[in-house]
Amino acid sequence: MIHQKRRQALLAQLPENSVVILSTNSEKQRCGDVHYPFRADSNFYYLTGFKEPEALIVLSQQSYQVFLRPRNPEREIWDGERLGVERACETLGADQAYDIGELEQQLPALLDDAEVVYFDHKDHNLDQQVEALLGNYTTKDPKPVLAEMRLIKDQHEIETMRRAADVSTKAHTLAMQSVKPNMLEYELQSVFEAEFKKAGGEHAYTPIVAGGKNACILHYINNDQVLKDGDLVLIDAGCELDYYASDITRTFPVNGRFSEAQKAIYQLVLDAQLAAIECIKPGAKTDSMHRAATHVITQGLISLGLLERGGDLSQFFMHGTGHWLGLDVHDVGVYQIDNQPREFVPGMITTVEPGIYIREDAKIDPAYHNIGVRIEDNVLVTSSGHEVLTQAVVKEITHIEKLMQ
Ligand code: GLY
Ligand code: MN
Ligand code: MN
Repeated sequence: MIHQKRRQALLAQLPENSVVILSTNSEKQRCGDVHYPFRADSNFYYLTGFKEPEALIVLSQQSYQVFLRPRNPEREIWDGERLGVERACETLGADQAYDIGELEQQLPALLDDAEVVYFDHKDHNLDQQVEALLGNYTTKDPKPVLAEMRLIKDQHEIETMRRAADVSTKAHTLAMQSVKPNMLEYELQSVFEAEFKKAGGEHAYTPIVAGGKNACILHYINNDQVLKDGDLVLIDAGCELDYYASDITRTFPVNGRFSEAQKAIYQLVLDAQLAAIECIKPGAKTDSMHRAATHVITQGLISLGLLERGGDLSQFFMHGTGHWLGLDVHDVGVYQIDNQPREFVPGMITTVEPGIYIREDAKIDPAYHNIGVRIEDNVLVTSSGHEVLTQAVVKEITHIEKLMQ
């Protein structure tokens, strides 16, 4: 039902005689006979709710056609049950269903009246087949229209993202309670594996569990070093549940107590994050949160004597303050319209994640070296302002120290 509504909403925005052709992802080999766990393409899932590989839809005002793998008793012994052609119409709400192996025979007839074909050419076999059949048709990219739709979450999506956020906050809380000096980063990571799996979810992205100076490597994913007494640990991990992502970062002391230098940097990031979150309300410009975070961090670093007035902030804070969140962890949706920052609208969900990263080559007081702090929450824009979906995991210094006692 929800998928049908989305398909209709998509078609309503396209010229009358349009046909949309959309395939799902292809399976990817990991090694030998082993594939990575399959995940459907986000746009495909958004419009169909269908999770099997080797599938493609052809959608127009007149009809909704699905191509999919046929039942195959032999293969199903190895890989599990398939929906199959016979059940596809009822389960997926399609008007017609075909064996994906018949794409070449069937597709040309389905395009007969098409004036414009919306086709997202992904780099895989199925789309190459489609491309070969499209010949002289004018094709357009459906992704920008889908991105605008996906940017505004419906109630079902908000509910799902709430659940994903809840699983992640629980795991982050547990991690704070579990960490001990001399633990390995991946031991601490295993808390997230267990919690996400218990909830029926998985990592929305490769988690970062970074002790001490590793936190200054923005995409640190080795997670195989010892967590040292006196260091901070930065954990960026989020659960994907029923296809929707959460994306949380917390930074806390391995031994449960912040040092004075760690406190100073941490509080600055927290102040910046809170200031950024305050910017989120309908009608506010989306770039206001980055400007707010940058302002707080700049002033704070100057006060601490770590940055000169007019100095280069990007040596300490070199990424954006947030991104859209949804089916993809870096979700679709543009940030600017006509070269101007767009405005927040109820139903958008953004991360807010300022950070400060002080590498050991920074020409400042060495007490601050190798401190990396990021604090990241997921924030829903509501009609009256915002709601922090991930606030259940503490972030005030006193609250963290109390929890870790
Ligand atoms: N975890 C990816 C990000 O924070 O953007
Ligand atoms: Mn993020
Ligand atoms: Mn993150």
